[in-house]
Amino acid sequence: MLKNFFKKNNAKIYNILVWYIFNKEFKALAEKYIKKGKLVDIGCGAKPYKTFFKDKVSEHVGIDHQDCLHSKDNIDIIGSAYEIPVENAYFDNAICTAVLEHLEEPDKAIKEAYRVLKKEGIAIYSAPFIWHLHEEPRDFYRYSKYGLRYLFEKNNFEVLENIVLSGFWVTFGQLFVYYLNRFNKGIIRAIGILTLILLIIQLVAYVLDKIDKAERWTWMNIIVVKKVK
Ligand SMILES: C[S@@+](CC[C@H](N)C(=O)[O-])C[C@H]1O[C@@H](n2cnc3c(N)ncnc32)[C@H](O)[C@@H]1O
Repeated sequence: MLKNFFKKNNAKIYNILVWYIFNKEFKALAEKYIKKGKLVDIGCGAKPYKTFFKDKVSEHVGIDHQDCLHSKDNIDIIGSAYEIPVENAYFDNAICTAVLEHLEEPDKAIKEAYRVLKKEGIAIYSAPFIWHLHEEPRDFYRYSKYGLRYLFEKNNFEVLENIVLSGFWVTFGQLFVYYLNRFNKGIIRAIGILTLILLIIQLVAYVLDKIDKAERWTWMNIIVVKKVK
C-alpha cells in the first residue's frame, strides 16, 4: 500500500512531502480547467501526468529539449520551449510544471506558449520560490507569486489563480530532509534508521504547516492563466 502511494505520487522516501502536496493541488486545478482538447506539456521530462490526462484530452504532446536529464521515453517532440513546431493556436491547453526556473529566457517561452494556445486556452504553470539548485547547470531563476503574475500579465494572459503551496515548515522541513538524505547510504541505509527519521520529519513538517502556513516561505507557486485576446 505504501509502495503504491509513493508510486502514484512519483515520489521517493526523501520527497514525498512536496510531491504529495503538489500533486493534490495540481490535479485539482487540472480537473477544474483542463477537461478536453489538445494539451501541450512544455518541458515534460518523464511526463508524470501522462496517466492522469489519458482519458481527458485528445492529445497530450510532450516537448522537451535534447539535453533533458530525465528519461526521453515519453517525449513526443525534441525541441525547445522557445520554438514549438506547430501552427498558431494549435493547442487548447498547456501545462508547464517546474520548468520556468530552467529557462534562461522565461519571457520568450511564455510568448511562445501564448502563440500556440487557442483564444480562451488555459495554461497551468508551476515554479519554485525557495528551493535548492537542481538539474545544474540549467537552473537559472526562482519566482515569487508577484513575479509570476507580472510575467504572465505582461504577455496578455489573464491570471485565474495564483496559489502558494506551502509555508515555512514544509519548505524547510523538506530542504532539511534533502540535506540529510545525502548521508542515507551504505550501512546507514541498510539499518533504515535515517529513512525513518526522514519520513517522520516530513510528517511533522506537514502537520506544523497545517497549523501555521507562513506563505512567505513557500517552496512553490502554481499559476493558472488564460489567453484572453
Ligand atoms: C524539473 S524538470 C520538470 C519536468 C516535468 N515537467 C515534471 O513536472 O516532472 C524541468 C524540465 O525542463 C526541461 N527543460 C529545460 N530547458 C528546456 C527548454 N529550453 N525547452 C524545453 N524543456 C526544457 C528539462 O529538460 C526538464 O525536463
